[in-house]
Amino acid sequence: MITIKSAREIELMRKSGRLAAQTLDMIAEHIKPGVSTEELNTLCHDFIVSHGAYPAPLNYKGFPKSICTSVNDVVCHGIPDKKHILKDGDIVNVDVTALLEGFHGDTNRTYYVGTPSEEARKLVEFTEKVLHEAIGIVKPGMHVGDIGHLIQTRAEAEGYGVVREFTGHGIGRGFHEAPSIPHYGNPGKGPKIRKGMTFTIEPMINLGKPDLHVLSDGWTAITNDGKISAQFEHTLVVTDTGAEILTLSN
Ligand code: MF3
Ligand code: CO
Ligand code: CO
Repeated sequence: MITIKSAREIELMRKSGRLAAQTLDMIAEHIKPGVSTEELNTLCHDFIVSHGAYPAPLNYKGFPKSICTSVNDVVCHGIPDKKHILKDGDIVNVDVTALLEGFHGDTNRTYYVGTPSEEARKLVEFTEKVLHEAIGIVKPGMHVGDIGHLIQTRAEAEGYGVVREFTGHGIGRGFHEAPSIPHYGNPGKGPKIRKGMTFTIEPMINLGKPDLHVLSDGWTAITNDGKISAQFEHTLVVTDTGAEILTLSN
């Protein structure tokens, strides 16, 4: 069932979304060579909790940490670890979900550690751009498949691979609600988008092939070809004429 949020519920989602985005703003200056992904986790955890919210990943289906930190060939759901030290030239995605006053705000960004390679910089810039292009076409009456079609077409034209196994999702009182929002697909297919729907778009774009596997920890998803993967995510609400991003920091 796809829920339509009321004006009051949307206002609460603005609050949780803003806090999640502010967490990503906060963490940016801490991302540098020599820092462990565990340190990023602790900083984000403390920031979220000190603002009266709960870091939704913590204990979610057994996930052991408060954020996901996905480095280089990790596509998503990387587990923060004190033994994982970031090094110059890495890319790291930090995915934050804040649960505040009963509603979730889910957003992620991919950061450079030190100086990126040219191909990493292009992939990361492309991924952020295609997320915003997709947000730009959202409006009532369109279909979920239109979003995936845009992302897939644009990514494949650049020679990139679009991840299939993980998708955007409805969000609200639930962390992951209906519908699923694939980042591939066909125009006019899938559920119709209506005013008041809240969902994420969160394309995972691979430098190489789309294929991935999950490590024996049950979470860490990595590319089969060992090439890097980038991701950006926002939580949106559908308005009369388009979409409003709920995960903005101001
Ligand atoms: N925040 C992720 C998403 O965008 C989900 C993380 S689930 C976790 O949907 F358990 F790995 F934290
Ligand atoms: Co999400
Ligand atoms: Co997320």
